[in-house]
Amino acid sequence: APILCVVGARPNYMKMAPIIRAFAAHDPALRCLLVHTGQHYDSAMNDRLFADLDLPAPDVNLGVGSASHAVQTAEVMRRFEPVIDEHGARAVLVVGDVNSTLACALVAAKRNIPVIHVEAGLRSYDRRMPEEINRVLTDQLADLLYTTERSAHDNLAREGIDPARAVFVGNVMIDSLFASLPRAVPAEALLRGAGLDPQVLAGGYGVVTLHRPSNVDRAEVVGPLVEALREIARRLPLVLALHPRTRNNLERFGLLGRLDAPGMIVLPPQGYLEMLGLMSRAVMVLTDSGGIQEETTALGVPCLTIRENTERPITVEQGTNTLVGIDPQALMAGVDDILRHGGKRGRAPELWDGRAAGRIAAHLAGWLDQHERPR
Ligand code: UD1
Repeated sequence: APILCVVGARPNYMKMAPIIRAFAAHDPALRCLLVHTGQHYDSAMNDRLFADLDLPAPDVNLGVGSASHAVQTAEVMRRFEPVIDEHGARAVLVVGDVNSTLACALVAAKRNIPVIHVEAGLRSYDRRMPEEINRVLTDQLADLLYTTERSAHDNLAREGIDPARAVFVGNVMIDSLFASLPRAVPAEALLRGAGLDPQVLAGGYGVVTLHRPSNVDRAEVVGPLVEALREIARRLPLVLALHPRTRNNLERFGLLGRLDAPGMIVLPPQGYLEMLGLMSRAVMVLTDSGGIQEETTALGVPCLTIRENTERPITVEQGTNTLVGIDPQALMAGVDDILRHGGKRGRAPELWDGRAAGRIAAHLAGWLDQHERPR
């Protein structure tokens, strides 16, 4: 039976791509079947990223789409179980912390199939974040937990998870970053392609991404953030890659027009190679994403994270990341500090070396041999 490798949403793809490649190199010991739940489906959120990452087309697509958390999670579960019946499953491998991650882990655990979680043990300690709930529960269900930073092991121990099940391998997302950087699309080319004058970026620019429900689902939070961005854009041109959730909300709140401002360049969600090109040359990145905190640390680009907490503390302790919270004044002060003094320098965290997926493949091949379950 194959290892069922599950992706659902954009941040999963860059984690899975190097894993699929590393497993293929071990074939047939790590034969896998790529399952896409369909949580993300827009071309901008989906197909383009698959192409950028050289991910093979999914073997199975569950076509779940958008819905409330309960419905989306339940629908993934309903549609994933028959895949196990049809193809069998030596193990189920899930990455990250999206709803699809938890849903498939839960189905597998109930079927007594080994669950492997890549990017285990990260904690924001903020249960208002849907991803935090997904992380805690997926780790409880997992038989084998691969971690990106050593702090994850303390978090797992605190939750009573057997330390023998957790293995520090480094960061597969940084594997993708290193593998793709040579193909990154320069920001100027991207702007030209969008029919814009690349000259606006010549004096430096910032990159902005914003999509976390806690930041964009309420007008009284997102409104002041947009006003702060308008202020910042007067000093440093900002390229904003707008997530559909954010666009929809701003439209609903009648705030979309506020993004039309001097120095503000609003683009649809970008491909992976476009984002890498944008970020690698940016003066700074402003974000509420999880993965971008790590990517900017690997790139050595200063990052201001628009959140009160992070599940990726190493990016603050060793990398270029600073938490500024959601207060627009604090955000503007952070920007001011970078513009005046240059940003945090930081260093590359341990094992963020582009070879994490290879370590997973080597370890997993041995582990599966030892842990094959009688059925
Ligand atoms: C999901 C993940 C989040 C991740 C983010 C990256 C969960 C709980 N959240 O959030 O961790 O950082 O993906 O993008 O799993 N939509 C589209 N087209 C799409 C997908 C979504 O238009 O292809 C719109 C829909 O209006 C949808 C909304 O975006 O209702 C939210 O999508 P959803 O998948 O529920 O969560 P994200 O906010 O994308």
